[in-house]
Amino acid sequence: MDSGYPRHLVEAFGQKTPKSRSETERAAAIIPYGSPSGLGFFLLPHEIFIERGEGCHVWDADGNRYLDLFGGDWLLPLGHGNHAVQAAIAAQLAKGTTFGGPAVGLGYELASLIRERMPSVEMIRCATSGTEANQNAMRLARAFTGRGKIAKLSGAYHGTADALLLSNGLNTDPNYVPPGLIPGTTQEVVLLPPNDRATCENIIEREKDDLAAVLFEPIMGVCGFLPNSHEFVHFMREITRRYGILLIFDEVVTMPLDVGGAQGYYGITPDLTTFGKAIGGGLPLAAYGGRRDIMGLLDPHQHDGMPPVAIASTMGGMPICLAAGIAALKQLTPAAHRHLHALGDHMRYGIAALARKHDVPLQATGLGQFVGIHWTRTKVVDYPSFTTSDRQIVGRICFSLALQGFLAPFLGVFVLSTPMTIADIDQVLSALEQALRDNALIP
Ligand SMILES: Cc1ncc(COP(=O)(O)O)c(C=O)c1O
Repeated sequence: MDSGYPRHLVEAFGQKTPKSRSETERAAAIIPYGSPSGLGFFLLPHEIFIERGEGCHVWDADGNRYLDLFGGDWLLPLGHGNHAVQAAIAAQLAKGTTFGGPAVGLGYELASLIRERMPSVEMIRCATSGTEANQNAMRLARAFTGRGKIAKLSGAYHGTADALLLSNGLNTDPNYVPPGLIPGTTQEVVLLPPNDRATCENIIEREKDDLAAVLFEPIMGVCGFLPNSHEFVHFMREITRRYGILLIFDEVVTMPLDVGGAQGYYGITPDLTTFGKAIGGGLPLAAYGGRRDIMGLLDPHQHDGMPPVAIASTMGGMPICLAAGIAALKQLTPAAHRHLHALGDHMRYGIAALARKHDVPLQATGLGQFVGIHWTRTKVVDYPSFTTSDRQIVGRICFSLALQGFLAPFLGVFVLSTPMTIADIDQVLSALEQALRDNALIP
């Protein structure tokens, strides 16, 4: 496979990571691409295999140290090996990892912490992945409204369920339909252009009698953590309420953006919210919650022992994951959020300054600790403008960053963590400048 990365960089990578190469060769014989999760950093003939992480750093199989700008796929705002999280896991491990039924205190504590941060989440249930949380929220919406269709933004990523895969930002062809979907999926999903109020209004008015919910990614991760405009988000709340369509906020990524997540930032009260990633403190945990009248569809006591929407999850809300999530959430204080925002702002300003200094079409988007880069002269404000970015160049820049000891996958989306300092970000910015040089983008 031709990676598109410059030959001299690929050679340097091969010399730096021989053990990762043999790990890939060994694993790829029995695991596609050698990656158990399907995630990879650079989609190269061989991957970087990580040995361990501590704070904001990870070390690979060859002992190379990297500043971790990936955060375990966007889920470790406190970095690796957080002591309070480790202690909570160890304490629960001694008692038992899971019991099937509820464990004393843990579910209640997590639900209370979330409700304090997001009052819209009156009740909550757990799942294991963001995909599962979104699937369950969509099913609740269909059952509650008696309607069949779900709308989502073009370019928004919500996971790997059939309906969620349409226009998920990874493939920039808006008409691409991945193979293997349940026949008819495309008729059940209504695509809405982000930040385009007039077109969305027309589409929603046309489909209103069939639409159960709008599943909404407030800050679009795959598109460079691109925030939707305040005006557009408030419009979406207003039009969904007008037609009895539920608004589901996907906060799988954005929950740790601020105390109130993205809904707090925008000042929005969604009907349902989904969670994943950081909510488990690094262990697999997800959740979906919201209005009491909707969540009541899951309660056997309200429905003669048989809830109309029967959803259970063997590993959803395992005590050991709840304990880790609680310990992590308690550390996401206003001061921690302020620090993360200061890091992110410093990085975005620094990238803009770099672009001005060299007059190159480099741009940064994002909010708080979430930073995305693009290579285009068009200002990136929505999905169409995002698709003008040269993703190959972004991938090459990230590859060169990795060679310099900064781990950022090829999509050019970075997540910062509390152990980082402004000095770390200054180093990222210097490495970014060197990455432009390495790729002959500046002299
Ligand atoms: C916004 C958003 N929602 C949902 C998901 C799916 O989560 P999972 O991979 O845990 O199924 C992701 C994954 O990246 C995501 O970014």
